Amino acid sequence: MSSRLELFNALPRQGPGSDLATASALAFAKYIPEHPRILDIGCGTGSQTLALARLTGGRITAVDISQAFLDTLARRAKNLGVASQVSTLRCSMDALDLPDDEFDLVWCEGAIYNVGFKRGLRALRRFLKPGGFLAVTELVWFTPDPPEPALRFWSAAYPPITTVDENVGYIEAAGYSLIHHFSLPASAWWDDYYGPLERQIEKLRSRQWPATEDLAFLDENQEEIELYRSYSECYGYEFFVMQKPQDARVHDGS
Ligand SMILES: C[S@@+](CC[C@H](N)C(=O)[O-])C[C@H]1O[C@@H](n2cnc3c(N)ncnc32)[C@H](O)[C@@H]1O
Repeated sequence: MSSRLELFNALPRQGPGSDLATASALAFAKYIPEHPRILDIGCGTGSQTLALARLTGGRITAVDISQAFLDTLARRAKNLGVASQVSTLRCSMDALDLPDDEFDLVWCEGAIYNVGFKRGLRALRRFLKPGGFLAVTELVWFTPDPPEPALRFWSAAYPPITTVDENVGYIEAAGYSLIHHFSLPASAWWDDYYGPLERQIEKLRSRQWPATEDLAFLDENQEEIELYRSYSECYGYEFFVMQKPQDARVHDGS
């Protein structure tokens, strides 16, 4: 198993988030059917997939490029008795061969950055039924003037990072109506993500004869954690819930 997989596959989540945040975002997707069709993009080992399965009783197509993560999700779904609601699909989010206007909800926690927020918004829109909802989390600056260490780190690690207001502009420009947005609390970074990640880093570091590149990878992740410890008030994840207009077909010309 690669060091990346070994580090992340054992964690409850592969990014910041919480069941409470998932439920809060879902509450803004009003008037969806009782058994909605849901597309969960970049699902990882599927914490939000399982939360959505329990909360909606819908059918979820969970997409990721990592087969190991999808296998872990399938095991978790079976253990929780929701396997019949969840099907997994190994595919990149920018190469999905799925029908247009198919889903009531498209969900993407901590993964749209893989193709970039702006591009991801446009690419995912076609999978939604008119009136359907897209819920995504994205790394944002909470301040227009971030401190130098945070600016240096994130400008290199994720150059498109920007403010909440600018992301709201991208949402509107991509043809959605913004329904609501809220910031994830620091607990959503520590409880199921950075806390377990730190413990896993320690475990892997204490192994005999770790490879140099593995140690460098562990150091990079620890650096990210220390940065958040110092500057969590300056950046974080924003949950955006938006809607594809009911008359989208008319506006799309499709
Ligand atoms: C930060 S993790 C978030 C996982 C999960 N949604 C969560 O919040 O715990 C990002 C996920 O995106 C997946 N990923 C990376 N590139 C992708 C792509 N092009 N298409 C689909 N998934 C991708 C990774 O394998 C990983 O599971």
